[in-house]
Amino acid sequence: MQTEGLLGALSSFIAIPSVSGDPACKDHCWNASKFLSARLEAIGASVKLATAVEGQNPVVLARLGEDKSKPTVVVYGHYDVQPARHKYWKTDPWVATSIDGYIYGRGTTDDKGPILATIFAVQQLVEENALSVNMVFIYEGDQERSEGSSAGLLEV
Ligand SMILES: *[C@@H]1O[C@H](CO)[C@@H](O)[C@H](O)[C@H]1NC(C)=O
Repeated sequence: MQTEGLLGALSSFIAIPSVSGDPACKDHCWNASKFLSARLEAIGASVKLATAVEGQNPVVLARLGEDKSKPTVVVYGHYDVQPARHKYWKTDPWVATSIDGYIYGRGTTDDKGPILATIFAVQQLVEENALSVNMVFIYEGDQERSEGSSAGLLEV
């Protein structure tokens, strides 16, 4: 199923400048939500994009498994990032760059890397037929925007 590894996927994800605080990046935020949707669909999850508040970036809601006899694990993350002013960066913030064993790129640890690590881990369990829980994934796109809010999300 997997055509690229975690690092390749992370590089692609980092290359999407999903800066929620910058209106010029609205389409990038949309693309980041689509990127995640595709990855989740690839592991067999059913995915929907939802917005509860006008102007909000889509919340990616995904479910994998609906076995009521199993517990359900809910994971949360956000696909938006802080702005990156190039003058503060030694490398291009939108190009994942490996130096001395560290990966530099906006969102690498907050929060794109952890999101993909989780999805890849679940994918591994699915492939080994070892996923013993249902999974629910909630990824929002307004966490880094100061006035951002997921208020109303629970009504979705
Ligand atoms: C969003 O993704 C589409 C399809 O891959 C692409 O054509 C478009 O240029 C992207 N938008 C931005 C702002 O990069």
